[in-house]
Amino acid sequence: MAHVKLTDVCKSFGALEVIPGVDLEITQGEFVVFVGPSGSGKSTMLRILAGLEDVTSGAVEIGGQDVTYAAPSERGIAMVFQSYALYPHKSVFENIAFNLRFNKVAKVEVETRVREAARILKLTDLLDRKPSQLSGGQRQRVAIDRAIVRNPDVFLFDEPLSNLDAALRVEMRFEIERLHREIGATMVYVTHDQVEAMTLADRIVAFDDGHIQQIGTPLELYRNPSNLFVAGFIGWPQMNFFPGRVSGVGVIAELGTPVGVNVGDRDLGGSKALTLGIRPEALQLNAPESGDRLSVAGEILSLEQLGHVSYAHVGYGDAPPLVVQLGADAPHGRGDKVRVSLDPRDLHLFDEDGAAIR
Ligand SMILES: Nc1ncnc2c1ncn2[C@@H]1O[C@H](COP(=O)(O)OP(=O)(O)O)[C@@H](O)[C@H]1O
Ligand SMILES: [Mg+2]
Repeated sequence: MAHVKLTDVCKSFGALEVIPGVDLEITQGEFVVFVGPSGSGKSTMLRILAGLEDVTSGAVEIGGQDVTYAAPSERGIAMVFQSYALYPHKSVFENIAFNLRFNKVAKVEVETRVREAARILKLTDLLDRKPSQLSGGQRQRVAIDRAIVRNPDVFLFDEPLSNLDAALRVEMRFEIERLHREIGATMVYVTHDQVEAMTLADRIVAFDDGHIQQIGTPLELYRNPSNLFVAGFIGWPQMNFFPGRVSGVGVIAELGTPVGVNVGDRDLGGSKALTLGIRPEALQLNAPESGDRLSVAGEILSLEQLGHVSYAHVGYGDAPPLVVQLGADAPHGRGDKVRVSLDPRDLHLFDEDGAAIR
């Protein structure tokens, strides 16, 4: 049975339709990440789950109960936000305990629950401090501990790490992952950062414009994006795209000049214009020519050397450059004339509407 279930959930703000109708089931203990660009409706969906926003139509179930019209406090959820307002004059202990005290939980139990939460997120030695005496990461841990002490059935996170610097974000990602493993609660996590989504999620729900674009494991979305949006959104550097078309029974790629592509037994349906996509790591420079491989001559316009890996931006004709992943010590430099080649089996094909052709 689904732990969280959304049935045809629609949401409008006045005349603005933000969520046109979403169906989603989340199983007990699952870590689900809503990912998508800013304004795609992720927070609205989460706030609907939390009961902070009402639905225009549709139904929300948590733990088998219809909670569509239930107050947030009746839903067994706890939410962690990007901006965590801690009480500056209260200690870490009292910040974590605040909600329990408010709900008149017995003193001994408050003590036990706060200490257990502090242990999980390694705050035990900091319980007497004030928020001003903590780092940004420690403050965010306090905010998460405030959620933990409530023993929620479902944790909701809305971009909880966006205010932290890069190193802390990575560290907190591990903490949240460990928290999930330790307490096993259902978690729904919103982020615009596809790396966070890839590293945390059991399943990713990719949003664009209020619509669910694809649901799947991180590697399913990476390897088999179901449309152009997901293909371009998941993965960095982005997938390379170039135009193609169907001609007779074959496919012609516009790669500088028109070249025939062997697309195997993929079902081209009735499409005429295509978009072809290829990941940077599926492109090679100056590989030996052979059989079915496609290639195009170009020039390295820039070379990004990241130490463990390099990315060459290869210009050809008037098209946007192709980004090619290279080994860190590949003997190439800006201005080099090169041949970029690929195995057509690595190509992603998309029809006129952007849907993947498989
Ligand atoms: N209270 C509101 N009133 C009017 N429009 C809103 C309100 N909240 C969100 N929106 C609009 O709904 C859309 C989705 O917003 P949101 O769910 O916050 O997106 P995300 O979290 O993906 O960035 C945006 O166009 C936003 O401007
Ligand atoms: Mg948001």
